[in-house]
Amino acid sequence: MPREVRDVVFVDGVRTPFGKAGGMYANTRADDLVIRCIRELLRRNPQLPPERVEEVAIAATTQIGDQGLTIGRTAALLAGLPKTVPGFAIDRMCAGAMTAVTTVASGIAMGAYDVAIAGGVEHMGHHPMGEGVDPNPRIIAEKLVDPSALVMGATAENLHDRVPHITKERTDAFALASQQKTAKAYANGKLQGDLVPVAVRDPEAGWGLATVDEAPRDTSMEKLATLKTPFRPHGKVTAGNAAGLNDGATASLLAAEETARELGLPIAMRLVSYGFVGVEPEVMGVGPIPSTEKALRIAGLTIDDIGLFELNEAFAVQVLAFLDHFGIADDDPRVNRWGGAIAIGHPLASSGVRLMTQLARQFAEHPEVRYGLTAMCVGIGMGGTVIWENPHWEGGNK
Ligand SMILES: CC(C)(COP(=O)(O)OP(=O)(O)OC[C@H]1O[C@@H](n2cnc3c(N)ncnc32)[C@H](O)[C@@H]1OP(=O)(O)O)[C@@H](O)C(=O)NCCC(=O)NCCS
Repeated sequence: MPREVRDVVFVDGVRTPFGKAGGMYANTRADDLVIRCIRELLRRNPQLPPERVEEVAIAATTQIGDQGLTIGRTAALLAGLPKTVPGFAIDRMCAGAMTAVTTVASGIAMGAYDVAIAGGVEHMGHHPMGEGVDPNPRIIAEKLVDPSALVMGATAENLHDRVPHITKERTDAFALASQQKTAKAYANGKLQGDLVPVAVRDPEAGWGLATVDEAPRDTSMEKLATLKTPFRPHGKVTAGNAAGLNDGATASLLAAEETARELGLPIAMRLVSYGFVGVEPEVMGVGPIPSTEKALRIAGLTIDDIGLFELNEAFAVQVLAFLDHFGIADDDPRVNRWGGAIAIGHPLASSGVRLMTQLARQFAEHPEVRYGLTAMCVGIGMGGTVIWENPHWEGGNK
């Protein structure tokens, strides 16, 4: 049966404020963070009859406990979606939510369904990185990977070895800029629009409301220079130039463009292409370079066509390696205009949709930009990139 691929649009995206692992969400369930996001999407888009949601894909890296039990399905039920709405869980570590988006977008494109929710969660306080993993001994014994490949911070030190021209000072300067851009974005009300407040409970302080990210901090080059290098003696990666350990969730609404128009749903971004690749696990941070080349190739675009970049800042060194590869300056205003994961936090499987919601907001502010890109590195050596078109594009120069 001949079939046409349909255009897929990003309608809306929300996230919880990101907490520090063991911080403001210490007594909040991971699945409750997801449920809050799904309910907020429905509240913000009353034109969408809940029964028109036909799939819910939620990512988590550790799929046990309050992140287990096929979280896409259970969160959908608990969020009040009709029981007829199916759901599933998904995992590609840091790119979990990104993969949830590309997976349901592909389902929409081929006509399996019209509207879907995709997002992710990671409660790194409840589920520390690597919880419960049991790597097959062959993976090390047969030297498929070096043991350092399983520790993300160690892979960032490995990457430093490959790119010695990227100095510790340069990574710290990039990290400081991330903090400063996030502080400015908050001051200018840029980030708040997609944050869904979460009721939190502390055994001593009682009930409270999480309304802003917990991780951003006031810092300086001097302070950053004094931090320990936990992944290697005399190394370069610190708590200051790496993303931290965080708790948070995201969710987004995707639809066939024709369905969005039928229901009167807003169109925030149009999906152009995506690419995932594998790279050497020991230097997983380079992943977004070939995944971006792949997504650009599929789209028939070049890097110069991209007017806005949302790059996940797992580690400053891997973002800088990306920027160097494509000949983009560290302080290029197209890149992470509102800061990134170094300041905001990186609850692993949730972050992909944070990049997308921020890009969507920026598209609305920048009708002169036609294309934007979200990209991230992924554990065990992968990269993921999604290219989006700005529906507000006014046809000028990019
Ligand atoms: C780097 C890492 C090990 C640090 O963990 P941690 O020690 O719990 O981090 P903390 O927040 O306690 O920070 C450590 C110290 O640095 C300080 N610090 C952190 N960021 C700072 C900043 N930007 N400026 C100044 N000081 C800072 C903290 O105050 C703390 O100081 P203290 O020891 O005097 O209390 C952890 O954040 C990590 O593993 N990050 C990478 C996460 C990851 O791999 N994600 C997946 C990517 S693929």
